[in-house]
Amino acid sequence: MEYRRLGKSGLQLSALSFGSWLTFGKQIGDRTAEDLMSVAYDYGVNFFDNAEIYSRGQSEIVMGEILKRKGWRRDSYTVSSKVFFGLGGKDLKPTQKGLNRKHVIEACDQAMTRLQVDYLDLYFCHRPDKQTPIEETVWTMHNLIQQGKVLYWGTSEWSAQEIMEAHMVAQRYSLIGPVMEQPQYNLLERQKVEVEYAQLYSGVGLGTTIWSPLASGVLTGKYNDGFPADTRLGIEGLGWLKDSALVEANLERAKKLSAFAAEIGMNMPVLAIAWCLKNPNVSTVILGASKTAQLVENFKALEAKEKLTNEVMTRIDEILNNKPLLPAY
Ligand SMILES: NC(=O)c1ccc[n+]([C@@H]2O[C@H](COP(=O)([O-])OP(=O)(O)OC[C@H]3O[C@@H](n4cnc5c(N)ncnc54)[C@H](OP(=O)(O)O)[C@@H]3O)[C@@H](O)[C@H]2O)c1
Repeated sequence: MEYRRLGKSGLQLSALSFGSWLTFGKQIGDRTAEDLMSVAYDYGVNFFDNAEIYSRGQSEIVMGEILKRKGWRRDSYTVSSKVFFGLGGKDLKPTQKGLNRKHVIEACDQAMTRLQVDYLDLYFCHRPDKQTPIEETVWTMHNLIQQGKVLYWGTSEWSAQEIMEAHMVAQRYSLIGPVMEQPQYNLLERQKVEVEYAQLYSGVGLGTTIWSPLASGVLTGKYNDGFPADTRLGIEGLGWLKDSALVEANLERAKKLSAFAAEIGMNMPVLAIAWCLKNPNVSTVILGASKTAQLVENFKALEAKEKLTNEVMTRIDEILNNKPLLPAY
C-alpha cells in the first residue's frame, strides 16, 4: 500500500480506501461486508468511509459491528461519517438535517454510537447548506475537534468558493478549518478536481478523498454490451443513478477505453482507478465493491499506475476528448 498525506495535514491515508455506500446494509449481506473490510484492512487500507444517510444509518451500524468483531487497534485505521442529509425519508423534521449546530452535533454523537467508536477521524459536511450561516458550521466543527469527538473535518461537493468562505471564517476567528473535500472524480467527471479546486491545493492545502472512481461500475466496461444481472445499476430504487450513469456519451467513452485497455493489456477497472491515483492532488481513492474478487482486482491499480506513462496518459486524453481546460490566466 502507498500512503499519502491528507492535504497539508499530517494524517497519512492509504492511497486506496474503502466505502460502504449502497452496499453495507443494502445490496450485500453483513458477512460479505466483513469479508470486504478484512480484505481491505489486510491490504493496508486505513480509511473506511461512511455517512449518516448510507442505508439510513444501517451502513454505520454494520461497519461498527465489524470493527468491534475484528478488534483492530483503534490507532491503526481511520473512519468517517458525513452530516447533512440526516437519515433521509419523508418524515424527517427540520432539526434532523442540515449543517446547523444542533444537527451537526447530534449527528456526530449518533454516528459514534452506530459505529461504536469514541471519536470520528474524519467528519464531512456532506453538501453545502444554504439555510445555515457558514460561521455556525465552522464554529461547530472547531468545537467538536476541541472536544475530541472529531479529528479532521471537511466538505463534500462544495464549490471552491464555499470552501474558501469556510477558510476565511476559520482564519478570522483562529479556528480549525476544513482540511479535505470529498468530490466525485473519475475518467468521466474531471472539472471540479482538475479545474475548480486547482488553486486550493497549494493555497489552503486541500486534501481530497475522491468518490466513484469507476462511475458506479460504468468504467469497468461491464455495461458496454447490455445490462448484466446482479449489478448496482439494476438495484430497485436506483433508477435515478442508472439514468445519469448510463448516458450514451459515458457508454461511448467506456467502450473506447475498454478497447485501449485491452491494447495495453490492462483490465478496465484497474486502468480507471490507476488513472485517478496518477493525480497528485488525490489523497485517497475510495473504492466501492460488492464482492471481494472486485476489491482484489482493484488493488492491482497501485502497481498498474507505473504503466501509465505520460504517453499513455496523453492517449487516454485523446480517446476521451474531455480534458477540462484551465483558465488562461
Ligand atoms: N461524498 C459523496 O457524496 C459520495 C457519493 C458516492 C460515494 N461516496 C463514497 O465513495 C465510495 C466509492 O464510491 P462508489 O461505490 O460509487 O465507487 P465506484 O468504484 O464508482 O463503484 C463501485 C461499484 O462498482 C462495481 N465494481 C467495483 N469494482 C468492480 C470490478 N473490478 N469489476 C466489476 N464491477 C466492479 C461494484 O458494483 P456492482 O458489483 O454492484 O455492480 C461496486 O460496488 C462509496 O462507498 C462512498 O464511501 C461518496
